Amino acid sequence: MASDKDLIECAVQASKRAYAPYSRFHVGAALEVESGEVISGCNVENASFGLTNCAERTAIFSAVAQGYRTFRRMALFVDHNDFFFPCGACRQVLLEMAPDMEILVVKGDRSVARVVVRDMLPSPFSPKQLSGR
Ligand code: THU
Repeated sequence: MASDKDLIECAVQASKRAYAPYSRFHVGAALEVESGEVISGCNVENASFGLTNCAERTAIFSAVAQGYRTFRRMALFVDHNDFFFPCGACRQVLLEMAPDMEILVVKGDRSVARVVVRDMLPSPFSPKQLSGR
């Protein structure tokens, strides 16, 4: 299991790989999977702005593509004075794959705010809705 400090450092490094020429907002995610491995993600922007992929979704999709399905924790880093919590689209994707996962939201000075995925999305549209038809 990665220490908080190591997981945060992975997110910091991931943020440096962000492709964000339009917003210049560099976001890094580090996702710890069940085995203890860490899969990272960054935001990847596009000249067709709506095609941009956020760091959290890059990490989740990469991990799923690599065969991981169970996730322990995610660290999320933006080098800024404020805490930046995941956007609505990422909350929905995180809820699907890891509703009970803790997210360490980290700001520039490395201070941490902790939140659990399901607490970020009340009254969600979830897999339960589809299975209950
Ligand atoms: N972004 C993320 O990577 N994660 C979020 O949760 C919110 C926003 C990225 C998308 C875009 O590249 C930039 O931050 C500005 O919105």
